[in-house]
Amino acid sequence: MTVVRLPRQDLFARQEMEVPAPAERQLAQLVARRLTREPLAYILGRREFYGINLLVNPNVLIPRPETETLVEHALFMALMGMENPALVIADVGTGTGAIAINLAIHLPNARIYATDVSDEALDVASYNIRGHNVADRVTLLKGDLLEPLPEPVDLIAANLPYIPTDRIPTLQPEVQREPREALDGGPDGLDHIRRLVAQAAGGKLKEPGVILLELDPEQAPAVEALAHQLFPDAQTSVEKDLARLDRVFVINRGMN
Ligand SMILES: C[S@@+](CC[C@H](N)C(=O)[O-])C[C@H]1O[C@@H](n2cnc3c(N)ncnc32)[C@H](O)[C@@H]1O
Repeated sequence: MTVVRLPRQDLFARQEMEVPAPAERQLAQLVARRLTREPLAYILGRREFYGINLLVNPNVLIPRPETETLVEHALFMALMGMENPALVIADVGTGTGAIAINLAIHLPNARIYATDVSDEALDVASYNIRGHNVADRVTLLKGDLLEPLPEPVDLIAANLPYIPTDRIPTLQPEVQREPREALDGGPDGLDHIRRLVAQAAGGKLKEPGVILLELDPEQAPAVEALAHQLFPDAQTSVEKDLARLDRVFVINRGMN
């Protein structure tokens, strides 16, 4: 499709079509790249996420289906639970902008801050935000977690790096081609999440307010303990992904 520049359905309709020699050569090059275990999304330069197409390159994490659970739950909380329709939201560690853009599309009255430490990731997010016509409501900020936010927010959605450092060499080669700073969460994978929850408790989250954190199922008990320490009055819950694994930790501070 990429090589012969035809939509998928046309490939079936035109099965007798002869592939031109330059296209055949180009395809062989793409296959050779894939054989080196380069991720398909980097080869194609794009990835579909929650119904939108995003530019991706090796400077950003390739958005995952698990993160669609985070988007879905953020939308559920925003639409069902929060009285104020003009929500202020933070997408922390935005990467391609996948979470921020979808929240902006589905919550037309929301204002969204999207933060990242990586200039290269912010460039990709900027391209995607403009491409989906949400630049008027999504503000990119460079900095550490919630630090660059100019005001407290109603909802924090974060898919931060959460893989324990010593597990990274055991991951499949494709994943190891993704940026280290998008994967490595420190010794137990929770370095960033711990700091984020502390920053939120230190004044960056409004009351009522909600934090949604993507994590590894094994990390839920540790995050539960952390949440109760820093937000003793909050309600907590864990949402499952499509594989029925605990994936999104919810800290609900005073919202019905
Ligand atoms: C797991 S990726 C998630 C990207 C995107 N949100 C997604 O779900 O596809 C984590 C992102 O967090 C960023 N990041 C790492 N440390 C950070 C920090 N201290 N503050 C802000 N962003 C950070 C990385 O550069 C990376 O883009």
